[in-house]
Amino acid sequence: MSRNHHPRTIWTIGGGKGGSGKSFITTNMGICLSKLGARVVLIDADLGGANLHTFLGILPSVPTLSDFIKKRVSHLKDVLIHTGIPNLQLLTGAQDLLNAADVKNAQKRKLLRAIKSLESDYILVDLGGGNAVSILDFFLMSDGGILVVTPEPTSIENTYRFLKSAFYRRLKHVVTSYSVKSLIDEAMDRKNEAGIQTPYELLREVRRINEEDARRMVAEAEIFHPNLILNQVRSKKDIEIGFSIRSACQKYFGIHLHYLGYIVYDQDVGNSIRKRRPLVLENNRSKAAQCVTEIASRLANSHPMRHGTEP
Ligand SMILES: Nc1ncnc2c1ncn2[C@@H]1O[C@H](COP(=O)(O)OP(=O)(O)OP(=O)(O)O)[C@@H](O)[C@H]1O
Ligand SMILES: [Mg+2]
Repeated sequence: MSRNHHPRTIWTIGGGKGGSGKSFITTNMGICLSKLGARVVLIDADLGGANLHTFLGILPSVPTLSDFIKKRVSHLKDVLIHTGIPNLQLLTGAQDLLNAADVKNAQKRKLLRAIKSLESDYILVDLGGGNAVSILDFFLMSDGGILVVTPEPTSIENTYRFLKSAFYRRLKHVVTSYSVKSLIDEAMDRKNEAGIQTPYELLREVRRINEEDARRMVAEAEIFHPNLILNQVRSKKDIEIGFSIRSACQKYFGIHLHYLGYIVYDQDVGNSIRKRRPLVLENNRSKAAQCVTEIASRLANSHPMRHGTEP
């Protein structure tokens, strides 16, 4: 992989629900990319649950990302930790950042600018669970957002909720009419009086208010390309769920979801975590490691549909 010709790509990993495998995937995908010769930085931006260091078998250390945000460290590169794995660095400690209700846009922009200026080919950000506004913004500001979902109804439900919130948040930046903006706010509440449950239903209402904004909404859906990884797959029927989610997104949301692939449920994942050795290093031939490796090479060969927006 040529360093000179490789554009820096920021992937954010989020959505789903707790325990869907975001951190496992972030770590192991990062290692796969680093093994291809790319320089990779992993960023642990999980609320109160920063644990990428454990996946990598290293101790949490200081300084952290928070030191950069609070201006105790001037350059983000000074917060990078060497993982002991060639080409792979780690940035940790964002507990008090992305989920804090009072994170200022200026802080987010400063952080994003700093992240974008890191010397690296790939930057993978583990966003943790939940859909706090800051998490959504980060998801939207990246080059490519990846949702990790498991084949359980609760996880799938959370994924739709995350996607809907992210899309509505994005829409608010592009529509101009005040009444459409407030309608979007209203639609964010599932129990809204207008009974709007899907982006299509929202679009129908927007058409009544402002045709121009309705067009903007359709155009925005066209360029919003989130990605999906289905994890902990146990059967052929489970694999199909990825395709069903993709179709449902198209049908009810008007959003093109890119199904990056699936990872099988494999006890070697838990074994490797207990040993604090990343699976793709500990047992590269295990089924889950092979799935992750395949998805990582897909990432390496594709450029995300850039959907970056400033908050
Ligand atoms: N493909 C898999 N096969 C078997 N077990 C898995 C797989 N993926 C993840 N797990 C198990 O699920 C657990 C949770 O994984 P992980 O910590 O990566 O989830 P997470 O989405 O980051 O969770 P959180 O939202 O709490 O940060 C792991 O301890 C691991 O044992
Ligand atoms: Mg995690």
